[in-house]
Amino acid sequence: MTSWLLQAVLLYGEGEPVDVRTDGERIVEIGAALPVGDSRAYDAAGCVLLPGLVDLHTHLREPGREDAETVETGTRAAALGGFTAVHAMANTDPVADTAGVVEQVWRLGQEAGHCDVAPVGAVTVGLGGEQMAELGTMADSAARVRVFSDDGKCVSDASLMRRALEYVKAFDGVIAQHAQEPRLTVGAQMNEGITSSRLGLTGWPAVAEEAVIARDCLLAGHVGSRLHVCHVSTAGSVELIRWAKGKGWDVTAEVTPHHLSLTDDLACSYDPVFKVNPPLRTDVDVEALRAGLADGTIDCVATDHAPHALEDKETEWGAALPGMTGLETALSVVVDTLVEPGLMSWRQVAERLSETPARIGRLEGHGRPLAVGEPANLCLVDPAARWTVDARAMATRSRNTPFAGHELPARVRATFLRGRPTVLDGKATS
Ligand code: DOR
Ligand code: ZN
Repeated sequence: MTSWLLQAVLLYGEGEPVDVRTDGERIVEIGAALPVGDSRAYDAAGCVLLPGLVDLHTHLREPGREDAETVETGTRAAALGGFTAVHAMANTDPVADTAGVVEQVWRLGQEAGHCDVAPVGAVTVGLGGEQMAELGTMADSAARVRVFSDDGKCVSDASLMRRALEYVKAFDGVIAQHAQEPRLTVGAQMNEGITSSRLGLTGWPAVAEEAVIARDCLLAGHVGSRLHVCHVSTAGSVELIRWAKGKGWDVTAEVTPHHLSLTDDLACSYDPVFKVNPPLRTDVDVEALRAGLADGTIDCVATDHAPHALEDKETEWGAALPGMTGLETALSVVVDTLVEPGLMSWRQVAERLSETPARIGRLEGHGRPLAVGEPANLCLVDPAARWTVDARAMATRSRNTPFAGHELPARVRATFLRGRPTVLDGKATS
């Protein structure tokens, strides 16, 4: 395999430029102005080098909705976004609730080769919320599942949630909860507030998310297990996570790029590209989410990349499916909303988009330090680049990006998966 010499990079965006040499699957040398030798030199002057990004929350849609995304197209989009590993959510058709389905998804990821795919296992059979799936069998499978979630649906039965939290302790798993009290969100279309009243759309109150988070934090504390809260969207949720962490409970949380940047007034357009679950909230929520991510209350950014086919999205608001694509814009949105305003450093970007999600997902070989001997899973970013999002120019099979037409900062120049470039000069290598 080719040895690469990435020249004049800024490690974590800090200090003086250095050269980083890879050989085989690992980083073998880091230093100033290294001789090229037998390596292939890559001029990366001005670029920031980060560990390859890790997404805890990606919908790849295969099996079942290959018209919206496949493992191949979704992971190519991930690589272009700087990711070297993604967790594939379980709400496929059939649902990923058996060893057979998670192994299928894991193998498709290996065959595509753009990034590692860690399948998420469903908590309940068919996402039905009634009978626990065979979590242990999925954990023991070739896919080595550690993250379990009914995402898209909430595990709303408290007793079942308690048992699932207890069960995954045996193999160091985590339950990733989509916190949405179903009885409080019947027919809900957007955030409950002034805008929903004005538009006459059924509101989705913050308390529907917060009530479940409070309950689950108490349960996780009670049984001493790991809870991960998916896509936190309200200021009150940030407060609850802060409270749970203060208690010393093993609770982690993620926020999406869209909840860090967009608000519910976008629904005034009635453009379903802005329909998402949980819904876009208010300025106050966005500010609390940014502050919570910066101070570590929220542990990481996860995309909730949710591709949808045109017929499911380009319809009237009420009939459209919720969800937004996000893999190819995530890093740029984080730079736009947190790094450039001075709320977060590049070092923290590495923590929140790589190290911490890899740790939560118990992914070996990802989110590792940029150091000699470590796997060469790398994301090379040009922080000075600016680009305009074009929905049709993306690698994802779907077009439902809420950032179409936005000018964003920072662009991924190259991604390396165990020493092999999956993206070079901003283009996928295969
Ligand atoms: O907006 C969303 N879309 N939220 C979810 O929880 C599920 C996802 C999907 O699968 O489309
Ligand atoms: Zn969800």
